[in-house]
Amino acid sequence: MEEIKNVKGTHDVYADENNAYEKVENLMKSIAEIYAYQGVRPPVLEHSPVFVRGVGEGSDIVRKEMYTFLDKGGRELTLRPEFTAGIMRLVVQNKLYATNELPLKLYYVGPVFRYERPQLGRYRQFNQFGVESIGHNSPLNDVEVIVLAYTILCSLGLENVKIKINTLGDEESRNNYRNALKAYFAGHIENMCVDCKSRFEINPLRILDCKVPEDRPIIEGAPKIGAYLSKDSQERFDQVLEALEALQIPYEINQSLVRGLDYYSETVFEFHYKSKEGNDYGAVGAGGHYGKLMSELGGPDLPGVGFSFGIERIVSVLKDDGLLEDVKNQLDAYIMPLDKESMIYAEEVAVILRNSGGYKVDMCFDNVKLGNMFKRAANKKAKFAIIIGENEVKEESVVLKDLAKQEQITVKVEELVDKFDELYEASYGEEEEEL
Ligand code: HAM
Repeated sequence: MEEIKNVKGTHDVYADENNAYEKVENLMKSIAEIYAYQGVRPPVLEHSPVFVRGVGEGSDIVRKEMYTFLDKGGRELTLRPEFTAGIMRLVVQNKLYATNELPLKLYYVGPVFRYERPQLGRYRQFNQFGVESIGHNSPLNDVEVIVLAYTILCSLGLENVKIKINTLGDEESRNNYRNALKAYFAGHIENMCVDCKSRFEINPLRILDCKVPEDRPIIEGAPKIGAYLSKDSQERFDQVLEALEALQIPYEINQSLVRGLDYYSETVFEFHYKSKEGNDYGAVGAGGHYGKLMSELGGPDLPGVGFSFGIERIVSVLKDDGLLEDVKNQLDAYIMPLDKESMIYAEEVAVILRNSGGYKVDMCFDNVKLGNMFKRAANKKAKFAIIIGENEVKEESVVLKDLAKQEQITVKVEELVDKFDELYEASYGEEEEEL
């Protein structure tokens, strides 16, 4: 029979790596909550126009990367390639903009799907965590979103995160800039890559994103957005930068940063981090302000701003930099019944330690030799062993062994939780506090 494997571009997450995902996502959620964001869960499936209209017909995502299909009822559906457009559909359909004080602040986490060429840090199914702050046009809203993302990355232990920032200006600025780019690239496009040739027709701003080395010198010489900004857009961007400085958030302006999704206007930004091993997984997160996305999806003319992190990329840099040592699967206690008759009593002890003590406890269900059980305890990185034989059952006690210190005592079962707390605190109290 042909071997059944996972789909190209997907990956399995298990064991310690799953703990890493949980840790990263939980930390992101808890910080978003401190910033007064609320969780939402939009569906993975949407009608295709949500993304075609939202992300934009000219974007690579819509042109080449969407998983679109007809369901059995003949509806054209798409597996979400990103969250923002789906969130906006959710907000418009449920009229959340009318029933909440604005900005409406939402966070989300889950899988997204893009038919891209898999490589380091690039998958076809990957996970994003992100936030959207919707309905208020203050530049401080952009700033708050950037501060939140930066705080999360710092709290995960990443030092020297690079924030690249740019403004795409308002519609007037972008139209003027687009015309200037068109005029400039008209003289060079013949000698540029095929992708740039189609970008030239669809949206010349995208050419700035091209990574082909031969095209880079031409792109470096292109006009810069700064010269085409309207007065309002320039003022807005200056206010964003001023607030970032006041909050001591480091940034670098990158006038080539245009982002790959069509809904952006004004402030756009990306978060970059090179792991100590030197691996470059691409941006670990990115986002920006969007002026017309809500009205594009049939809602009122309200702007928003948000970002999304790529969880895979963040877990990869954390792993490279040794910042995930605390997520290793480890047991607090491994329970070792010495014979079949001790099994039920051993299970009772396990339940007491789990339910009353809150400890992570596992038990040996096989009738194997004691030495074998100690090996299993070591494999599970258990901190304590609890040995139960005929005597212990009779006396309603257990033998409690600290596996690091190799010391053991006999404890009555009614005193077990208190005694366990005491020994655990003595051996591991400080370490737990540090985590
Ligand atoms: P994006 O730049 O397309 O923006 O994706 C955000 C992040 O998702 C990237 O910075 C990267 O970390 C991760 N990512 C993207 N593609 C892949 C891939 N193929 N494999 C692994 N990770 C990937 C958005 O999705 C926007 N919705 C962000 C946003 C929110 N803008 C406003 N609000």
